[in-house]
Amino acid sequence: MQLLINSNVNVLDRLFCISLLALLFIDVIELWVTSLGMSGAIGPHGVVLPHSIPQTRSEEYLFMPSIHVCQRAKPYLIILVATAPHNRKARQAIRDTWGGEIQVRGHQVMTLFIVGQPSDPVIGKELIEESKERGDLIQGRFIDSYGNLTLKTLSMLGWARRFCPQAHYLAKVDDDVLFNPSALLQYLNLRFKTEENDLTELYLGRVHMQVAPDHNPASKHFMSETAYAGMVFPDYCSGTAYVLSQPALLKLSLAADAISLPRPLYPEDVFVGICAHMAGITPTHSPLFSGSLAVPYGRCCYQTMVSVHHTKPGDMVHYWKEVHSTAPCSWLGVRTSLGVCKIRALLGTLLGKDS
Ligand SMILES: *[C@@H]1O[C@H](CO)[C@@H](O)[C@H](O)[C@H]1NC(C)=O
Repeated sequence: MQLLINSNVNVLDRLFCISLLALLFIDVIELWVTSLGMSGAIGPHGVVLPHSIPQTRSEEYLFMPSIHVCQRAKPYLIILVATAPHNRKARQAIRDTWGGEIQVRGHQVMTLFIVGQPSDPVIGKELIEESKERGDLIQGRFIDSYGNLTLKTLSMLGWARRFCPQAHYLAKVDDDVLFNPSALLQYLNLRFKTEENDLTELYLGRVHMQVAPDHNPASKHFMSETAYAGMVFPDYCSGTAYVLSQPALLKLSLAADAISLPRPLYPEDVFVGICAHMAGITPTHSPLFSGSLAVPYGRCCYQTMVSVHHTKPGDMVHYWKEVHSTAPCSWLGVRTSLGVCKIRALLGTLLGKDS
């Protein structure tokens, strides 16, 4: 009898230890599981890089900061925020928190916003005013709408390639994302300690695997069978926030210029994934990007995450203050907080709370 109780206790102890370890190293487990699911092998490399860089497609910019903005600021990381014309509050929250031109971990970081043309002329005028006042807006020549997000990305890739070749990394971030340049630079420094001139091709974010095209015409993400014939899209990074190194940006945007666009357009992140696939670039998964998951607030968790989606402008300012006005979390603090917020995010999705 005594023996039986003892062995039961042993099993419980072990279970407890395993759960605790799983909680503390949840990001390692996530990386491993993701690596199992990824397509890995890359198909034919569709893109032959020309010797001279061709002019970008018909991208034109109705307004933008000075064309010398990157020559002057020499950003190591440029963050381009995809924003809708009427989201002025979101842009302001970003300027008040992680945006602007800042020095992070010894590197210059610059944040600019990219918009299309609003259908409402009043908003159009306000946007011009805002651009004059702040000098951090780029406007592409296309109607700004959900269905046109891919054009915004094309515009962004073309702009970065042409006007900001100095940047070592480009981050594309949505305007409802709490981004953390310091956490990103820490991650990059740890993982890619390479010589200045020897940047590797990197396409980093939360990787979506084995996503099938949506053939339902009523859906927001409708994709006709003629537009995409494959069973699944190539693995791609969630469009909420992803990072491209300079060489990856160059190859990817050349591939983007070579691709013919179907109607309706590909979803923005799928499009980038297809271009990366054509260019022979595999996405890299990082558990520190939330993707479209809503990650509940935890101070140490938010100190560590690179991107957190679904953040309202007011919350962004509030969280930022709380996260950055306090001392850095301890190793254990980070591990526990990350484990707890990831499990809560996962439960939230399973229970259908995520939109
Ligand atoms: C996308 O932009 C183009 C160019 O401005 C415009 O002709 C088209 O109607 C827009 N499409 C959508 C779905 O808004």
